[in-house]
Amino acid sequence: MPEPKTIGILGAGRVGTALARLALAAGYEVRVATARPGAEIALLLEIMAPGARPDTAEALVAASDIVILALPLSKYRSLRSEQLAGKVVIDVMNYWAPTDGTILEFEGEASSSEVVQRHLAGARLVRSFNHLGYHEIEQRSRPSGDPERRALALAGNDAQARAVVAGFIDRLGYDPVDAGPLSASRRFGVGTPLFGADFGHAEMAGLLSGGQALEGVE
Ligand SMILES: NC(=O)c1ccc[n+]([C@@H]2O[C@H](COP(=O)([O-])OP(=O)(O)OC[C@H]3O[C@@H](n4cnc5c(N)ncnc54)[C@H](OP(=O)(O)O)[C@@H]3O)[C@@H](O)[C@H]2O)c1
Repeated sequence: MPEPKTIGILGAGRVGTALARLALAAGYEVRVATARPGAEIALLLEIMAPGARPDTAEALVAASDIVILALPLSKYRSLRSEQLAGKVVIDVMNYWAPTDGTILEFEGEASSSEVVQRHLAGARLVRSFNHLGYHEIEQRSRPSGDPERRALALAGNDAQARAVVAGFIDRLGYDPVDAGPLSASRRFGVGTPLFGADFGHAEMAGLLSGGQALEGVE
């Protein structure tokens, strides 16, 4: 696949704007959309992510090589499956009942990303960035080879999409650790030892292969 050039971010909150700034700094073209018309987030982007282009969700998805889902998980059903079919999509969303409310489909064994993938059946979904706090996204970014470089896990059912996302993670200043299929994202969801923890590549790879960090298990 050609090297991604344009990153589309759905959501202009804490995570969406931090990822937009980091992606801009890494040389990507960045578009951002929310549920509101693009003109309504133009000022916010000028302040929070200068250089990012406000857009509609539809135009953003069409123009982007990678689409990032940085909206509240409770809104995932508003995502249009037919628009995202065939796209490399990064799911950074987490299920957090105190803010999302109790949502039965996220209370089962499957990770939230497996539920989102069922809704976005044709999308090439990869879960990542979900286990990193928004305030750390720029702060913990490090160049390749830096001994303090932090690792980020990724999981998805499409191997080519995982490779594309791994390249994006690397360019944003993190060591990607490929956990394999989307079901493996249960190992770095909310409540797992990996969630929010700061590990280097070797430690994270060991934890992901050791099978001790299942979602919902403290
Ligand atoms: N906060 C963290 O540290 C953190 C870390 C990892 C992952 N996450 C996950 O990342 C996601 C975003 O978290 P956040 O803290 O950035 O939330 P946030 O600050 O509340 O921002 C959410 C953004 O999503 C937009 N939005 C709402 N409905 C939308 C829709 N249908 N389509 C497109 N955009 C929509 C909102 O726009 P309006 O303002 O117009 O509603 C807002 O810009 C959540 O799923 C969260 O679980 C958060």
